[in-house]
Amino acid sequence: MTLVLGIESSCDETAAALVTGKRVIVAQAIASQEAEHAPYGGVVPEIAARAHAERLAPLIEKVLQEADVQLADCDAIAATAGPGLIGGVIVGLVTAKALAMATGKPLLAINHLEGHALSPRLADASLEFPYALLLVSGGHCQILRVEGVGKYQRLATTIDDALGEAFDKTAKILGLGYPGGPAVEKLALQGDPAAVPLPRPLKGSKEPHFSFAGLKSAVWRAHQSDEHADADLAASFQQAALDCIIDRTRRALGRMEPVTALVMAGGVAANQTIRGGLEQLASEFDLPFTAPPLALCTDNAAMIAWAGIERLAAGFDADPLDLKARPRWPL
Ligand code: KG4
Ligand code: ZN
Repeated sequence: MTLVLGIESSCDETAAALVTGKRVIVAQAIASQEAEHAPYGGVVPEIAARAHAERLAPLIEKVLQEADVQLADCDAIAATAGPGLIGGVIVGLVTAKALAMATGKPLLAINHLEGHALSPRLADASLEFPYALLLVSGGHCQILRVEGVGKYQRLATTIDDALGEAFDKTAKILGLGYPGGPAVEKLALQGDPAAVPLPRPLKGSKEPHFSFAGLKSAVWRAHQSDEHADADLAASFQQAALDCIIDRTRRALGRMEPVTALVMAGGVAANQTIRGGLEQLASEFDLPFTAPPLALCTDNAAMIAWAGIERLAAGFDADPLDLKARPRWPL
């Protein structure tokens, strides 16, 4: 049975995982860099690259040991080759190249976004192509029609900030620390979502793109005015963000060819309010709604290994060992 080692290092999680063609995550390990970046209120690329370099090799050894397998037992080595913070991506890709060279196993250079896009199929064997995917994380904010392996139709993207980034910046304004999404969600539970009038950027516009920079600035101005309780600001921000997400996704679904399901992935999929809103939207279109378990929504290496497995099964070739890491790499 196919067994692939996956490596992820494109942002602030160093991760390795072994996954089989039968959708079994045999072993996985993730080292978060939250503590390193927290004092700066966001990810510092230089610190991230150094932390990946220090942690990746021991993590790979750990998963191999845990699974009691040798590299020689793997059918391929899959690593994120972009997009992402280039220093970190290079660390992961160079490590994968070295392992591929030493073992003679094929190298699979995975687009991180393809990892996210296919991860719902690792969690759910019954999920068939084509499906609509709302991918919302700290670095990405897109609506895709996932039509097959290597076949992605992008219907929308953000013209400025990603949704997770807007949550993180709101958290920073409210002094809630980094990463801010979970803290904003928690505080919002105690606030009134209608208390603070905030804009809904691009709501109603023809193209289904996203924009969150104006919302973030409005939160900052409202906070400066000192007229609102922090909990009301958090709840009102979350409501405005949800309204935008619903409106934009509705617009995209309205012009999309038929799909089997509406799927949400990325770190923001952890947010219960946003999840609930999307679930309701799916029922409007008579579609089932799913989101992978949280550990597969946030950055992880199992989704990279799985993308490798899907690529092998779909007959894609291995990648050359002189392949370059790509800071930007649209699907
Ligand atoms: O997918 P992910 O781990 O990393 C990226 O690829 O960016 O997503 C992290 C993002 C952060 O911006 C974080 O604040 C956000 O996901 N996030 C949340 C929640 N949990 C994580 N945003 C809103 N509500 C949450 N509960
Ligand atoms: Zn990601």
